[in-house]
Amino acid sequence: MKDAIAVVTGAGSGIGQETAIRFAEEGARVILVGRTSSKLERVADRINSHLPEQVAEVFRADVTNEEDVQNLAQFIQKKYGDLHVLVNNAGVSSKSTILEMETSEWDRIQDTNLKSTFLVSKILGKVIADGRINDKDSGNVRDRAIVNVASLSGHKAGAQIPHYSSSKAGVINFTKALAVEFSQYGIRVNSVSPGYTITPLTEEGLKNNRFEEAIKRHTALKRVGKPKEIANVIAFAASSEASYMTGSDLLVDGGWLVT
Ligand SMILES: NC(=O)c1ccc[n+]([C@@H]2O[C@H](COP(=O)([O-])OP(=O)(O)OC[C@H]3O[C@@H](n4cnc5c(N)ncnc54)[C@H](OP(=O)(O)O)[C@@H]3O)[C@@H](O)[C@H]2O)c1
Repeated sequence: MKDAIAVVTGAGSGIGQETAIRFAEEGARVILVGRTSSKLERVADRINSHLPEQVAEVFRADVTNEEDVQNLAQFIQKKYGDLHVLVNNAGVSSKSTILEMETSEWDRIQDTNLKSTFLVSKILGKVIADGRINDKDSGNVRDRAIVNVASLSGHKAGAQIPHYSSSKAGVINFTKALAVEFSQYGIRVNSVSPGYTITPLTEEGLKNNRFEEAIKRHTALKRVGKPKEIANVIAFAASSEASYMTGSDLLVDGGWLVT
């Protein structure tokens, strides 16, 4: 990923943070996107403090907001003039039964997890595709990729997360549709589906010993995952090492589905 320009959404914590760090280690320039500037700046400082040149930059945006995403696209065009990698990682969850769920909560989860993946892929996908045309003109065609972060729950619906599970199933299928459409622009599109991973999204639930014990019981590797272990697979899918892979979902669940 040397000299690649990459966007990671939800880069202020958890899997997105580790992905941005890994990309920078691979030699990429990374634009960290999220709603909370302080979280993004902390990650950018962590990356930049080790390097002679600043490679991580913060852009505050809500990925459910079309205007914010358009502003992000304009910023990238103006500052970098190209984009090679997009990771749609921003996501949220909450617990509710279907009967007790407010429609607004259903919409919030669908918008953040699924609609944003469409919106950001559409708007930044155009920037990536335009860069490919310039590559062709210059005779130096680079690998270009989108990685969508889905979930184990998109394969097997989890208890009391019907909105989350269905949004992530949508991400897995949208990834395949996007892979077919974007192949003509030389953009590979894959999803990565993490199993239970320790991040701010799950840390509250994981404080419950019974929940953690249940995860261990149901996971072939007998433990929860670390964000870095998911970031490693995202980095593979985003890199030219995966140059013949598109429309795939990479399940990183410690063996949950096989037990
Ligand atoms: N942890 C797990 O066990 C697990 C398992 C399967 C899949 N995943 C998926 O992995 C991805 C990363 O989650 P994580 O576990 O690393 O949780 P996390 O630490 O909570 O990270 C999610 C990030 O998304 C950002 N975000 C949320 N809504 C946003 C919005 N509207 N616009 C821009 N940014 C937004 C959040 O920052 P702000 O609130 O500051 O915007 C946050 O930094 C998610 O898609 C999640 O569904 C996680």
